[in-house]
Amino acid sequence: MCGIVGAVAQRPVSGILLEGLRRLEYRGYDSAGLAVLEGDTIQRLRRAGKVANLSQAEQDMPLKGFSGIAHTRWATHGKPTENNAHPHMSGSDLAIVHNGIIENFEPLKQQLQSDGFIFTSDTDTEVIAHLVARSVNQGKSLQDAFLETVSHLEGAFALGVLHKDYPNQILASRKGSPLVVGVGIGENFIASDQMALLQVTDRFIYLEEGDFVQVTPDTLVIWDAELKQVDRPVKTFEHSLSTVDKGEFRHFMMKEIYEQPEVVKATLQGRISEKHLLEQAFGSDATAAFDQADHVQIIACGTSFHAGLVAKYWLEDMAGIPCAIEVASEYRYRKHVIPAKTLFVTISQSGETADTLAALRAVKGKVLASLAICNVPGSSLVRESDLCLMTNAGPEIGVASTKAFTTQLVALLMLSIALARRHGLTEAKEAELVQALHQLPVLLLAAVKLNKDIEVLSQDFAEKNHALFLGRGPLYPIAMEGALKLKEISYIHAEAYPAGELKHGPLALVDKEMPVIAVAPNNALLDKLKANLQEVKARGGELFVFAGADHIQPEEGLKVEQMPDVPEILEPIVYTIPLQLLSYHVAVLKGTDVDQPRNLAKSVTVE
Ligand code: G6P
Repeated sequence: MCGIVGAVAQRPVSGILLEGLRRLEYRGYDSAGLAVLEGDTIQRLRRAGKVANLSQAEQDMPLKGFSGIAHTRWATHGKPTENNAHPHMSGSDLAIVHNGIIENFEPLKQQLQSDGFIFTSDTDTEVIAHLVARSVNQGKSLQDAFLETVSHLEGAFALGVLHKDYPNQILASRKGSPLVVGVGIGENFIASDQMALLQVTDRFIYLEEGDFVQVTPDTLVIWDAELKQVDRPVKTFEHSLSTVDKGEFRHFMMKEIYEQPEVVKATLQGRISEKHLLEQAFGSDATAAFDQADHVQIIACGTSFHAGLVAKYWLEDMAGIPCAIEVASEYRYRKHVIPAKTLFVTISQSGETADTLAALRAVKGKVLASLAICNVPGSSLVRESDLCLMTNAGPEIGVASTKAFTTQLVALLMLSIALARRHGLTEAKEAELVQALHQLPVLLLAAVKLNKDIEVLSQDFAEKNHALFLGRGPLYPIAMEGALKLKEISYIHAEAYPAGELKHGPLALVDKEMPVIAVAPNNALLDKLKANLQEVKARGGELFVFAGADHIQPEEGLKVEQMPDVPEILEPIVYTIPLQLLSYHVAVLKGTDVDQPRNLAKSVTVE
């Protein structure tokens, strides 16, 4: 989704802005632009397509100004053309960058047009530029004009403004979209997330909802939504620079698949002892909430939703607590019946997904407590929830989520153990589960080592147009996640079914053009699943099965990839890996943009 970078310094900022945009590429975008103030002239460059196009344009026409704003745009209103790319300007006086959506832009646009403002783009953003300009023309200071403008805007936004009469200054604000301030020495910055600025600072201020900030090289003045001047803490960001580089890997996605044994270790670190879950990891208020909770509602989107689906099996099986799960975009727009003692759990890699945040806000005051399972410290979801458990996966750059998913599963397994303790989980059983968790990094490593075999297997898929994924029990959501991965990065149409549903429809699709992938660990449902696989075979389907040692034998039309033996509770986590590898290799064979698949964004900060 759109990304913003801004810089005010005592040196040229265009290099900082372009590097910031490059670091925001992972969020997904389709055009890019920047504006810097040179003398009293705003110089603007915009390009459709990649940041590399913009960099090239800047090399051809170097920009030397000391203050500037930049943007990657993910088209919502109007096509991804140069004309619609940000920054947007009102005349030549001011430039603006915007992340989010202005819901009331149409009436505002009509009003501005009747006041004589000429629109040069199809975007909702352009109204903001003209609104600020109109107030400045009426004699207001830039700051008052900006505040007044923001008060007219409905929707979600993070904004940065540059004005030719206010050198060495950027104004910014956020409401509903993320924005951080980067704190330097004699220079300061703004950006959609800290990743964009790690090359210039590791100190950040996380703006609150409704905050305004005036950024100059030496000062940062922040006002809250009530326009009261406030101090916000400066926090040091701990991830090292190397976490955002590809290293030896060709794609971030592969790097992130390989990181899973390590990051899962980091998720577990300090949270389990030899035999026990250390519940304090959920924060000091968690104990009281967990003691009372007798219902869990999980809300998430995309891959995070699939993690939640697995957790429903765990929570109901282990803790015997009813658990409901729903995608955030549905939940937020309907009336709910919320049982009194509901623990409301949101799952999100980014912590900025607009629908998930809206669902959380909709239940404020109506639930026992809210818990965010999230990968980004300081994100909106974390700040607005009562409790949080960080997944510690480190920055995830590939749009298709991999390590964030497996670490979410680990966090959800820890939550299930915490709640199960209060509902009859014995010490011995807890010790067994915790010991299984200790083995997880090694088992994940064994699964990652299947990479070469799976690369070979992937050749059978590159020419296919469809694929069917099957699983049973908690492996059904893993089949869903496998299908989503394949869709996202290889653009092959894929669907997942609980294997028992096969004969209620999808069997009609099966022929040799429809590969069928099954995740088949050796558990109580294996015999049932084997019967389903026979149904596929009997119809001439081509089967690819990921199975535990020696439980399914290869035969004509049935390829078997042997998985390490894993404790049953860990099956969903470990069996995720081969499906990630499969979709990766199919995408590479098809030559798609693996890390930034078409039309998708990493962090979906608008509806
Ligand atoms: C987008 C991303 C997915 C992600 C989903 C939810 O669709 O491309 O990878 O699963 O958003 O994002 P979240 O940050 O809330 O987990």
